[in-house]
Amino acid sequence: MSDGYVWFEGIPFPLVDYTPEHLRAMQNFVFKDEDVLTVSFPKSGTNWLIEILCLIYSKGDPTWVQSVPIWERSPWVENTRGYQILKDKEGPRLITSHVPIHLFPKSIFKSKTKVIYLIRNPRDILVSGYFFWIISRFVKRPESLEQYFEWFIQGHVAFGSWFDHTRGWMSMRGQENVLIVSYEELKQDTRSAVLKICHFLGKTLEPEELSSLLTHSSFQVMKENKMSNYTLLRGWLIEDKNGSLMRKGISGDWKNHFTVAQAEAFDRIFREKMADLPPELFPWE
Ligand code: A3P
Repeated sequence: MSDGYVWFEGIPFPLVDYTPEHLRAMQNFVFKDEDVLTVSFPKSGTNWLIEILCLIYSKGDPTWVQSVPIWERSPWVENTRGYQILKDKEGPRLITSHVPIHLFPKSIFKSKTKVIYLIRNPRDILVSGYFFWIISRFVKRPESLEQYFEWFIQGHVAFGSWFDHTRGWMSMRGQENVLIVSYEELKQDTRSAVLKICHFLGKTLEPEELSSLLTHSSFQVMKENKMSNYTLLRGWLIEDKNGSLMRKGISGDWKNHFTVAQAEAFDRIFREKMADLPPELFPWE
């Protein structure tokens, strides 16, 4: 598998299951009012949120999350494999995407689809991305964290600039069908964050259903669940024989990896690029 990206409209996409033709065709995807869309920049905790949504829909019963790969439960609309599953699916669909808003299917703006935009401290996203891409075979592999830091700042990473992605999707905040959730709030108080998501979706869970959801979406249990931890991709998209999506699962790991100079540079760039957005949108700042 070659090194690099698939480029579409100036944005780098992963190599496997992405083509410019499909990305163009995908823009005509029709969202239905009953769909639930998870959107995030990669490494924001997307798969954690998907696991939670699946367990909300199964009322805490783990059978589904233990028997079907996560990318089939809430497929990515932008990749060819995910699209095939979604286009034939009847009834309400869980759908995932990392696509920046300006390239997203326009039908989303006319539908009542419930949209959850998941955010995370971009410093942690950067570190998580670095450690995941170096064991993966589907995006350009950095040689060092220092190099990846530069790529990230320039937006030369899968799905482009975190800053543009976040600014773009954050413009939908405040709409009735849009909920912003942060990795940090999920970490700090998972139960309250799950109840907030249930309220948004119009779902209720009995106490024992909620308790089962919390168990089966916990880091330790997801780490052991081969339908969710990406170990099914070992030897294909994941090179490392011990490789897993589930690395550390904490907030603030960037402090263990950034130099003082990188931390200061990141603060400065964050302030410049996000200056016109209220700082309270970003719980980690
Ligand atoms: P780390 O690499 O910092 O550990 P995504 O799903 O968007 O690719 O994000 C992956 C990140 O979410 C990884 O972060 C992974 O460990 C973390 N994650 C996945 N499931 C989690 C869970 N149940 N609890 C906490 N973090 C989780």
